[in-house]
Amino acid sequence: MKIIIIGASGLIGSHVVSALSDRHEIVKVSRKEGDFKADITDKASLEKLYSAVGQFDAVVCCSGSGAFKPLSALSDEDLEFSLHSKLLGQINVVRTALEYISDSGSFTLTSGVLANEPTPGGSAISMINAGVEGFGRGAAMDLKPRDVRVNVVSPPWVSETLQAMGRDPGGGMPAAKVAKAFVESVENATLTGQVIDARMFA
Ligand SMILES: NC(=O)c1ccc[n+]([C@@H]2O[C@H](COP(=O)([O-])OP(=O)(O)OC[C@H]3O[C@@H](n4cnc5c(N)ncnc54)[C@H](OP(=O)(O)O)[C@@H]3O)[C@@H](O)[C@H]2O)c1
Repeated sequence: MKIIIIGASGLIGSHVVSALSDRHEIVKVSRKEGDFKADITDKASLEKLYSAVGQFDAVVCCSGSGAFKPLSALSDEDLEFSLHSKLLGQINVVRTALEYISDSGSFTLTSGVLANEPTPGGSAISMINAGVEGFGRGAAMDLKPRDVRVNVVSPPWVSETLQAMGRDPGGGMPAAKVAKAFVESVENATLTGQVIDARMFA
């Protein structure tokens, strides 16, 4: 398969690239490096990316951010940023690809456990993660006639991220194991409309 990985230079994305690259042709994308540069908050850059790559079989998006702040500190700008990056950004990754992706292709988006397991300071992230999951389930219904699949991977805290934050990495899951959930979404042709909890691959 020809697979576009957006966020390929990141912690999770680089492990997804490693896990898929021996069996598939990988197109690496991020804002600053890779085979192509694109910004998921900019629809025009996604359209330019897809038309340059041509037809492909799968898109994996391991990018997008949100503001992690207590409710009382969340500004309008924080909320707009969160909505436009991880939520609308990933929605646009799918919408702008529809005329290019092969029939029987797949999209894999990224949410996170805060969608269902809230933590103080995480209300904006919980909102966007839940939004991505709702979008994935709904979009999968609309794309069934073309046999195009849509799934969302929900990672827990990643060990390397906890370590970088000075926290106990043992409370998280290594990125190499999280990547297995993305592989499952891409390669299991029976999966669509699913939120895949990466902890199943711990
Ligand atoms: N790490 C965790 O503990 C954890 C837990 C749960 C969920 N997640 C989610 O998993 C995803 C990946 O996390 P990560 O830890 O791997 O992040 P990361 O290491 O910061 O990597 C993010 C990747 O996305 C790219 N990127 C960022 N913004 C972009 C944009 N607007 N357009 C295109 N590319 C963009 C980055 O490269 P450029 O800067 O060059 O664009 C980089 O390749 C995120 O959605 C995150 O919320 C992470």
